[in-house]
Amino acid sequence: MLQERIPDLTKYVEPDRVRREVYTDADIFELEMQRIHERVWIYCGHESQVPRAGDYYAVQIGRQPMLMVRGADGSVNVLYNRCPHRGNMMCGDRHGNTGDFFRCSYHAWTFHHDGRLKSIPMMESGYAGTRYGRDNPDCSMKRAARVESYRGFVFASLSSDGESLLEFLGESKVAFDDMCDRAPEGEVEIVPNCFRVIQHSNWKIFLENQLDALHPSVTHQSTGRAAHDVEKLIEKKTGKAPISYHMLSAFATVTIDKWDNFQTLNYPHGHCILTGYMGLRPQDPDTLAYDKVMIKAYGQKRFEEIVGVNIHHVLIYPGLSVQSPLQQLRAVRPLGVDRTLTEIWHFRLKGAPEPIYRRSLAYYNLVNSPATLVNADDLENFWKCHKGLSSEGGDWVSFARHLGHDIEKNGVVETAAGCGTSEAPMRNQMKAWAQYMTAEK
Ligand code: FES
Ligand SMILES: [Fe+2]
Repeated sequence: MLQERIPDLTKYVEPDRVRREVYTDADIFELEMQRIHERVWIYCGHESQVPRAGDYYAVQIGRQPMLMVRGADGSVNVLYNRCPHRGNMMCGDRHGNTGDFFRCSYHAWTFHHDGRLKSIPMMESGYAGTRYGRDNPDCSMKRAARVESYRGFVFASLSSDGESLLEFLGESKVAFDDMCDRAPEGEVEIVPNCFRVIQHSNWKIFLENQLDALHPSVTHQSTGRAAHDVEKLIEKKTGKAPISYHMLSAFATVTIDKWDNFQTLNYPHGHCILTGYMGLRPQDPDTLAYDKVMIKAYGQKRFEEIVGVNIHHVLIYPGLSVQSPLQQLRAVRPLGVDRTLTEIWHFRLKGAPEPIYRRSLAYYNLVNSPATLVNADDLENFWKCHKGLSSEGGDWVSFARHLGHDIEKNGVVETAAGCGTSEAPMRNQMKAWAQYMTAEK
C-alpha cells in the first residue's frame, strides 16, 4: 500500500518549516493526488467555454482526464474522458463540439452529453444474456461524483462526500464576486484560449509563490527597473506613459518595505487573500467612461463598494490563483512530482467598454503570459527551487518569516500591521495540506 511506504506524514510539517520530501517524493505526490486533488473541489472551467450543446473542454483533475460538456438541456456535465467498453479516451482534442452525442472512435458505442449510454452497435444480438446492456450503469461514461458552479465558474469533486462548493470556498468566493461584480452586467465571459505553461517543479512551489509578497521586488526587480526607465523617458517626452508600463515598473517601485504594508488573510482549507491593488485605478478617460457605465448599472453607492474591494490576489487551495480586479486566473494541474501545468486564463467584463478589456489583456500579456519576463523570472526560481530541494544540501524549507505575529480571529489568520511579507500564507497552505494528507478515510 502506498500509505505504508510513506513514513508518518505529521513529521514532515512543523509550524515554521516543511521537509523537502514534501516537494520531491513521488509516493507523497501520488498520495496528494488521492487525498487532495481527487477529493476536493477542483476548478474545471467557465461555463462560457462551452456555450452550445455538445461543446466540450478537456481538463485534468488530479491524475484523471475529464471532460466538461454542455448538455442539450443547458446543464454542464463533468465526465471521465473514458469509454466504458475498452477504455478508449472519448475525446483526443483539447476542446470541440461532439454533436448530439459522444461516439467512441473505436467501436462506435454512443453516449448522451450526461454520459448515459445511448447505443451499442447491434446491442441486442451482441450482448443478449450478458451483463452488458442499456440498464447497466457500467455501460455509461462515468460522471464526476459532484459538479457545482458559482457565478459561472464550474468545479468538480471526484469524491461523493464532503462539503458543498460554497462551504469549501468560504470567504475565498470573493474572487468570483469581485470579478463578476466589476462587470456592468454582473457576469464575465472567458476569452478563448488560454496560455499553457509546464513548470519543471512541484505544484506547491507555484502556489506558495502566489501570495509571496517578499519576492516581487527582488525576483522581478530587473524587469521592473527596465520598464521604469522607459516609462520615465516616455513621460519626459510625451507627458504621460501608457498604463501598461506602470504594470511592470511597479515591480521596481513597490519595494519590500512597501509590500509589508499589504496584508494577507488566511482561511481554513489553505485559501488566502492578499490585499492591495497596485494602484491600478487611474483617472484616465477610459476608466472614467467605465465608471459611468458602472454607476448607471449599479448606482453610485454600490459602484463605490464594488470598485473599493481591496484585493490583489485570491488563492483557492489547492488549484487556483485568481487576480479578480484584472480578471485573470491561473489553474494549477499537477502532472508529476516535478512537473506542473498552469492554465492562464483571462475574462471580459460583460457590458464594459472595450478599453477596459484591453487593459486586462495588457496585464495578461505583460505579467502572466509565458512571453513576459515577469513569468520567466518566476519560472526560473521555481525550477531552481525544485533542483535545490532535490539535493542533499538541506532537509527543510523555512516558512518562519513573521511567525508569532499572526492574529487569529475565528479561524482566520490575519497578518499583523507591517507584516505583509509574512510567510503566513505558506504556513496556512501547509496546515491544510497536512490536514488533508493525514485525515482518516
Ligand atoms: S472502446 Fe469505445 S466503443 Fe470500444
Ligand atoms: Fe513573481
